[in-house]
Amino acid sequence: MCGIVGYVGASPALLVLLQGLERLEYRGYDSAGVALLENGKLYVEKKVGKIRELVRSLWGKNLKAVVGIGHTRWATHGEVCELNAHPHTDNRGEFAVVHNGIVENYRELRQEIESAGVSYVSQTDTEAIVHLIALNYEGDLLRTVLKVVKKLRGAYAFAVISTREQSRIVAVKYGSPLVVGIGKEENFVASDIPALLPFTREVIPLNDGEVVDLRPDGVFIYDFEGNLLTKEAMHVPWDIISAEKGGFKHFMLKEIFEQPRTLSDTIRGYISRDMSLPFSLRDYRRVLIIACGTSYHAGLIGKYWIEKHAGVPVEVAYASEVRYANMPVGEQDLVLAISQSGETADTRFSALALKEKGATLLSLVNVMGSALDRESDHTLYTHAGPEIGVAATKTFTAQLAVLYSLAVSQRQDRQKEVENLLKVPHLVEEVLTRAEAVKNLALRYAHSKDFLYLGRYLSYPVALEGALKLKEISYIHAEGYPAGEMKHGPIALIDEKTPTVAIAPADRVYEKILSNVEEVLARKGKVIGVGFEKDERLKSLCDAVIEVPTVEEDLTPFLTTVPLQLFAYYIADYLGLDVDQPRNLAKTVTVE
Ligand code: F6R
Repeated sequence: MCGIVGYVGASPALLVLLQGLERLEYRGYDSAGVALLENGKLYVEKKVGKIRELVRSLWGKNLKAVVGIGHTRWATHGEVCELNAHPHTDNRGEFAVVHNGIVENYRELRQEIESAGVSYVSQTDTEAIVHLIALNYEGDLLRTVLKVVKKLRGAYAFAVISTREQSRIVAVKYGSPLVVGIGKEENFVASDIPALLPFTREVIPLNDGEVVDLRPDGVFIYDFEGNLLTKEAMHVPWDIISAEKGGFKHFMLKEIFEQPRTLSDTIRGYISRDMSLPFSLRDYRRVLIIACGTSYHAGLIGKYWIEKHAGVPVEVAYASEVRYANMPVGEQDLVLAISQSGETADTRFSALALKEKGATLLSLVNVMGSALDRESDHTLYTHAGPEIGVAATKTFTAQLAVLYSLAVSQRQDRQKEVENLLKVPHLVEEVLTRAEAVKNLALRYAHSKDFLYLGRYLSYPVALEGALKLKEISYIHAEGYPAGEMKHGPIALIDEKTPTVAIAPADRVYEKILSNVEEVLARKGKVIGVGFEKDERLKSLCDAVIEVPTVEEDLTPFLTTVPLQLFAYYIADYLGLDVDQPRNLAKTVTVE
């Protein structure tokens, strides 16, 4: 939520900030702004709307500053307006701050600030930070920031510049992500790696409780007590191309089409080894999977696989529900936290709370060096590359690949399973050749107001994921449901106007789901089936069928998910919506 970026060096800072912000826009996009140290003074420009609005308003202004900070906002405190957009400045215009996260005690701080005679002009929590810095400043920005962080509660990352110290950015990480980029005679700071890729691939991810003093000729990292830390930079394997659209209309479409490669990269990374874990899942009495959104759906599928192949009981919980529950957890439990970004606050903080209770923490992340990666006892990675579209697609199927590899790695004899998994990238490629047919179908249904997605067993989480994809990018109401539960109430929703998407590959529950399809038809509902090719029975029941290649039961989620991603994409695009940056959402959710 929100993206921040900062630059100190010898080049025009504005160009770096705007390029960085464009790559961070997926984190929030309701308003944006920059602050530059221009001719010794603060120059601030903010605009409501996307980065392009900011670019427009800066067009033709010959700004030469070589130090600056920028921000793209996803509102938490205060409505979307220029006043609440970042950067925020102090009353004298000497300090500017950009911030990501939430300062939970800002109301108390605001009182303290106002009673010192300072006027507080916005509705944001961020403004408290900049006033506290101005009020506590005694000639050294780093020391001032170290003093101010002791007063803040919550989860945040922020960066500050000052007219008093012209070649310096001080930035802090506590709960929200922050990465330092190392250049030649120039240095960078940003919420996420893609913002740094046009400039450098040498990065230092900061840990919570760290402050960076960024100068053109050096980067100095301290803990909150002011002790200088020694940290190695890591080389990011992603290149700038993998964070570009590559000829596709949207990142989401590009990322859907990347899946044969991302699956093959991920599978190759695991299949020859035994996951490189120094333990067996059977060493634990249970595996507790925690995750949010799409990652949670991957966890639900992982449960079936792990229970089948490893014989260990698995529980799957929404991370946002775990943190404040009284869940009995201890040393005999393995917590598997799944998060594409590795920064989701709900997942991270629940994982840390469970680790604190004695559980072993294994994480599955896409972003190497992310907070969850660093906080876990062990990490598994999806090798999907950067995912820019807000709706998760390629990282979901990559998570499935790791979960399946993990499950079958617990078997003595797994040759058959491994051989089958190795075929998946090619089969997904085949599914993608049928994209045009999915598009035609999507256009037929694009004006429906409600959808039901039904599945059983492994297809139930696929139904949840299909419905989530549709609602988040097309704003059409869609409900994913276990097909067998329909008769216990929701069947009342069925009518001619509510299409049902039935995920019905010929697996162990095939007969059962066909009966559920009949129940829908008996109530005049229209059904779109997703099933194996040449399934004449399914075809005879459904209004239309999306066919996927026939595959082992275990692997059906890889193939049935992909057409549902395409279906959602084509509907949203047809409706003219902003597919990559849907309203109200942000890619990385760093608030609880
Ligand atoms: C949906 C989506 C979200 C994320 C969720 C968790 O398309 O992307 O539901 O899956 O916010 O994010 P991560 O996996 O980064 O923890």
